Amino acid sequence: VRERCPNQSSQKGRGMSIEIPEGLTELLQSFTVEVLRNQPRDLLEFALQYFTQLKESESRGAAFGNEQNSAVRAGKAVNFIEEAMQIDSENEEDEDDDEEFVAPVINRFIRRASVCAEAFNPDEDEEDKEPRVTHPKTDEQRQRLQEACKDILLFKNLDQEQISQVLDAMFEKTVAAGEHIIDQDDDGDNFYVIERGTFDILMKSDGTTRTVGSYDNRGSFGELALMYNTPRAATIVATSPGALWCLDRLTFRRIIVKNNAKKRKMYEAFIETLPLLTSLEVSERMKVVDVLSSKVYSEGEQIIAQGDLADCFYIVESGEVRITMKRNRLKTDSEEDEVDIATCTRGQYFGELALVTNKPRAASAYAVENVKCLVMDVQAFERLLGPCMDIMKRNIANYEEQLVTLFGSHTEIEEPSA
Ligand code: CMP
Ligand code: CMP
Repeated sequence: VRERCPNQSSQKGRGMSIEIPEGLTELLQSFTVEVLRNQPRDLLEFALQYFTQLKESESRGAAFGNEQNSAVRAGKAVNFIEEAMQIDSENEEDEDDDEEFVAPVINRFIRRASVCAEAFNPDEDEEDKEPRVTHPKTDEQRQRLQEACKDILLFKNLDQEQISQVLDAMFEKTVAAGEHIIDQDDDGDNFYVIERGTFDILMKSDGTTRTVGSYDNRGSFGELALMYNTPRAATIVATSPGALWCLDRLTFRRIIVKNNAKKRKMYEAFIETLPLLTSLEVSERMKVVDVLSSKVYSEGEQIIAQGDLADCFYIVESGEVRITMKRNRLKTDSEEDEVDIATCTRGQYFGELALVTNKPRAASAYAVENVKCLVMDVQAFERLLGPCMDIMKRNIANYEEQLVTLFGSHTEIEEPSA
């Protein structure tokens, strides 16, 4: 299609030449670029959000007479996925941030549905602006809640005050077998911590729905839509009667997203140095940081016990970790029979084998001195570290050799399937 000069006379309706309005080409080009960049599942939904966002930034620009306005007019679109990701960004161009723009109620609703709604400026202390959410609980409920939350990685790095705000805001919900807790592509409302019950994780792609994982009486889900302002990435269905603790979106964003921004600043540089993650894009590495939590172990403490079921993956942040294996795995061995097989120090990882092979832990891990590890749960591991699988598998292939050298005989480690 050839674009015509706006002041050239047109021959409307006769099929010879059609006048293309000024800016259409740029508008569609920018939209196309965003589609290619973000690969949305639902094109129409994406288009709706994209143009709503564009219109909003245009009217905001007009209201405040800022730079963004001219960018919009020139057809330069806003990359809103990345904007939503930049919760931690150090650039200070957040002045035109949503948080400062008091929108009329109707507008707020539209922004709620759009992918870049509620960009978050972590440096801005808005704790006193929003009313705190509190759901009163009995002592018994509070105790169960604390128990359910004690291993939730996203809560690990919160301070005492933050954790008590989170616990205050959570409310209980019982669910029936077959109930859909989350439907893929919906807007995110709550984050969920499992108190009891089993749940399947289902994902649609190319018109078919597959079960990609499950939760068994522990863990949490529903953080992604709230963290990144994206539609729900999966469907979660209860496969038994169960109970959940729910945390509303606003409290989640106020506390967890703010904390994530801090984590990104803290770990950005370290994460960039990890050889394991070299095949990830920068934005993917940041998503890894978002789901990591840091755990400390004191000298001699056991981090992993051989034979246990596995649910996490570890990266050593500081200190030294000793990997040991029982000499004869058929006998019930005491600790003295454990043989050192490897050590891991800063930047190295362990605990991937059981997650990759879907087997119990092949070895034990102990803190040699005070150790700090970054820990990730199995769902995040599977979701985020797929591109790193080649590196892991190459290392796993070396384990075999290592063991043959140590034990002098062939061992039971199985090649992980593709
Ligand atoms: P969210 O997108 O808010 O809603 C669906 C949830 O499913 C998602 O957050 C995650 O917490 C959880 N989930 C578990 N496994 C996956 C997976 N492989 N991909 C995407 N989401 C997953
Ligand atoms: P996993 O089996 O999940 O838990 C124990 C971890 O020890 C294992 O994953 C590996 O990360 C690590 N490890 C290091 N060397 C070996 C080895 N030779 N054999 C098995 N595991 C090893």
